[in-house]
Amino acid sequence: MLGQREQWGSRFGFIMAAVGSAVGLGNIWRFPYMAADNGGGIFFLCYLFALLTAGIPIMILEFGIGHKYRGSAPLTFFKINPKWEWLGWWQVLVCFFISIYYVVVIAWALSYVIFSLNIAWGDAPKDFFFGSYLKLTGGPFELGGINTQILLPLAVAWIVAFVAIYTGVKAGIERIAKYLIPILFFMVVFIVIRGVTLPGSAAGLNFLFEPDFSRIFDYKIWTAAYGQIFFDLSICFAIMITYSSYLPKKSDVVNNAFTTCLTNCSFSVLAGMAVFSILGHMAFTQGVDVKEVASAGVGLAFITFPAAISSLGSAAPIFGVLFFLALTFAGITSLISINEAAIASIMDKFEMGRKKATIMYTGTAAVCSLLFATGAGLYILDIVDHFTNNFGIVFAGLIQVLLLGWLFDLKSIKDHVNPISDFKIGNWWLFAIKVVTPLVAGYTGIMTLIGDLK
Ligand code: PHE
Repeated sequence: MLGQREQWGSRFGFIMAAVGSAVGLGNIWRFPYMAADNGGGIFFLCYLFALLTAGIPIMILEFGIGHKYRGSAPLTFFKINPKWEWLGWWQVLVCFFISIYYVVVIAWALSYVIFSLNIAWGDAPKDFFFGSYLKLTGGPFELGGINTQILLPLAVAWIVAFVAIYTGVKAGIERIAKYLIPILFFMVVFIVIRGVTLPGSAAGLNFLFEPDFSRIFDYKIWTAAYGQIFFDLSICFAIMITYSSYLPKKSDVVNNAFTTCLTNCSFSVLAGMAVFSILGHMAFTQGVDVKEVASAGVGLAFITFPAAISSLGSAAPIFGVLFFLALTFAGITSLISINEAAIASIMDKFEMGRKKATIMYTGTAAVCSLLFATGAGLYILDIVDHFTNNFGIVFAGLIQVLLLGWLFDLKSIKDHVNPISDFKIGNWWLFAIKVVTPLVAGYTGIMTLIGDLK
């Protein structure tokens, strides 16, 4: 045996680490364009509904089982029922696939911190990103060699994640999150304050928040909102189970879950305001509608936003550095959590020491991530992202709530968390896990599958 399980040093440290996992690239680039693409304010209402009916209940569930069974996801599921260990490994596998491309997006962000110093993208951010920087080839099968410009930032991202995990839960993961997350928060608040005082920002914010009620019955919006909640909060990914397994015996599980979820979602709103106020300003300076400048996905962070930054004149470099540094910090703490979920599983299963497991795992993942640093990286990223997000996670989430909701004594988790928590969970929680979450996860999965087959 390897002795006692590691523990967080303080409640604040745990919350920062959990928020660090939740707040990631998804909050800064995914949330704003999901909202913009899905009816603005109406998406927002669905998102809040998803937070209350699925996000918070599942977070309580994951914190609850991690805390009770004190194991990484595979070990926790094994302790619940030896036949369910595979579900934990499935989640770990999804984490692996996400980490190898997620780290590359962090590397891009890091490069863009430097590019911001002299606004290297000039007047043509699109050509700069796809051409000069990514050296994009013609398709996913045309690799075109490893891009040396990405190699250095990629190495930096891996080294930071490696050092944090190698050093341990308290001295490494907790310490880095305790610094990076508050700094990240202040950087984004700073951008928002400047953003909302720019001429034209109101149009951007309206675009983000104005509800289009005619779309309330549109299933796409609902599936997008629930999908965003799962990705956003890092739930059903083995991560939150792992992190809560390091909590001390006396921990207010319910309160921790609420704090983590609400902090994360407030951060998404802030990030959305930061991005859209500046986009509004750019549209204003160009005399066009915000809709014309709001693009989706990777393009929003690395093409549209650089263009918007350029519209800030002499303040452009500062805002560029702040924005891309924020993206980098948000990404790094999530990357650490995705890797820790896998490494903790290896440590538990093979009774291996932290150092050895970290070297083996991050070494392998780092080599695999090189595939995404080739000229075909973006194409492959799109494909892997689509499958892991739409099927890997939804499937893992669905099985998790079905098994725990129906083939396990779910009330035992309620009885475990209530005596140690100030805020007691009631039958609404059982209902959310047993009925609401399987329905929405099942529906989302089926609808995406149908969409894919079409
Ligand atoms: N929640 C993180 C984000 O919003 C992403 C993430 C997904 C992190 C999966 C870990 C695992 O970007």
